Amino acid sequence: MNVVLIGFMGVGKTSVGKKCAERLKWSLFDTDTLIEEACSMTVPEIFAQHGEAWFREMEKTIVERVTKRQECVIATGGGVVLDRENVDRLRQNGLLIHLTMSPEVIFHRIGRHSERPLLQTENPRLTLESLFRSRERLYRACSDVTIDRTRLSVEETVEKVIETVRSYGIIEDPRGQLAREK
Ligand code: S3P
Repeated sequence: MNVVLIGFMGVGKTSVGKKCAERLKWSLFDTDTLIEEACSMTVPEIFAQHGEAWFREMEKTIVERVTKRQECVIATGGGVVLDRENVDRLRQNGLLIHLTMSPEVIFHRIGRHSERPLLQTENPRLTLESLFRSRERLYRACSDVTIDRTRLSVEETVEKVIETVRSYGIIEDPRGQLAREK
């Protein structure tokens, strides 16, 4: 099994994913980073030079590649759920954990940063809010669990992810192990 983090841009999938991978002693795959490495370009450069459709094709290729792995944490780009085949592949051997935050907090975290090409509009706040509304529906529909981390630190979120992974029996509960050792 894999642990797949999905959710809107800026909710911390990469930072939570890194720490979860450390805790689980699994590898971390970040789809945006893999795309950037494969293209030797940043995500904004890819959008600017090739457009969104091209980026989505690359994203699909990368998803196909990483989902062949086992015991890894996959931090996805916010738009990965737009493609049904991506979702099917990720679900095949992965627990899909949806990280969310209130759109206000997300805006404070990323609203003015230039590395999100989809927010390069006249009114990034409005763009974010309308994108958030349509995307949240998709994340909720395809995820196994939603973790609202509006008030949770990275560490607290990691704790919740690990608890969830345990509750699905993907990793062993150390209390069970202790009980058997007694
Ligand atoms: C996108 C989210 C970004 C990145 C690209 C498109 C999206 O990833 O893949 O800018 O469509 O929501 P993050 O979710 O890591 O910001």
